[in-house]
Amino acid sequence: MSERLLRLLSERQGEYVSGEAISKQLQVSRTAVWKQIRKLQEKGYRFEASPRLGYRLLEAPAHLEPEEIMSKLSTKRLGRRIERLEAVPSTQDIAHQLAAEGAPEGTLVLAEQQLKGRGRMGRGWVSPRGKGIWMSLVLRPRLALPFAPQLTLLTAVALCRSLRRMSGAEIGIKWPNDLLIDGKKISGILLESTAEEERIRYVIAGIGISVNLEADDYPDELLQRAVSLRMATGRSYDRTALIVEFLDELEQLYDLFAQEGFAPIRSLWEALSVSLHRPATLTTPQGVLTGVPVGLAESGALLVRLGDGEVRAVFSAEMGA
Ligand code: BTN
Repeated sequence: MSERLLRLLSERQGEYVSGEAISKQLQVSRTAVWKQIRKLQEKGYRFEASPRLGYRLLEAPAHLEPEEIMSKLSTKRLGRRIERLEAVPSTQDIAHQLAAEGAPEGTLVLAEQQLKGRGRMGRGWVSPRGKGIWMSLVLRPRLALPFAPQLTLLTAVALCRSLRRMSGAEIGIKWPNDLLIDGKKISGILLESTAEEERIRYVIAGIGISVNLEADDYPDELLQRAVSLRMATGRSYDRTALIVEFLDELEQLYDLFAQEGFAPIRSLWEALSVSLHRPATLTTPQGVLTGVPVGLAESGALLVRLGDGEVRAVFSAEMGA
């Protein structure tokens, strides 16, 4: 009920809603409304209560609150169960555990801080308290394991589109799924799949967004390559609004993918990519390649035109300029 109460009060954007109107809409007693207001106050929400006018929402807490996120979401599945934690080694581990125990698709694990955030290729991920979005999402796609890279690309498209809308910044995707502003990374995606006989059982989509970090939050050697939304655009962002925008976008694209396959996602990815049509060096598990990436294959692999004109599909690599 607190989720519906918050939705009602935030839709009225700081205006009073009478106790009677709330209890009618939510079909609960006025005492129950009062109790929920008290509970929300304990979580850090600030309300003004007037015997004559009712209640109005003044301020939401600075930390992430599952009820608030859920009250703003338009999704049917993604983010309908949210586990919010203070500090964890990595949200990936918690999400794996929940998925193995049968958590439904769309279950989201959020942490204010990660002590051992993981990146791709065995790297770490800087995840200071309260400054970014460190989250892992349980997905249960009906997909054969070789097609898992398609999901990584889909997630990058959803993240790029939602962050562009919210910030107005020129954000591009570097293959496969890094988001960059002016060549510096603001967000990374780590997909970990568990399969049974070549079919995916579940995927944990780990998403890190460097939202309100300042230069001091990064180790010096990373400042050449990494930036936060705040540092890049000069203002800070409401993390709840970013999460909501992303999950709404991701569910729409995920449904489109289920209905129409990878083709529409591929076009969207190619349009947002900053990796195509310029020479690149790719360090693959089989060796180093130089060529010009020209697009994506149906499988999600990167198509690279080599010096002799051959177009090669690359599934996994580290990409340099
Ligand atoms: C990368 O670009 O290397 C991927 C970074 C992924 C970071 C996120 S933060 C939430 C989730 N938990 C982790 O430990 N990693 C992912």
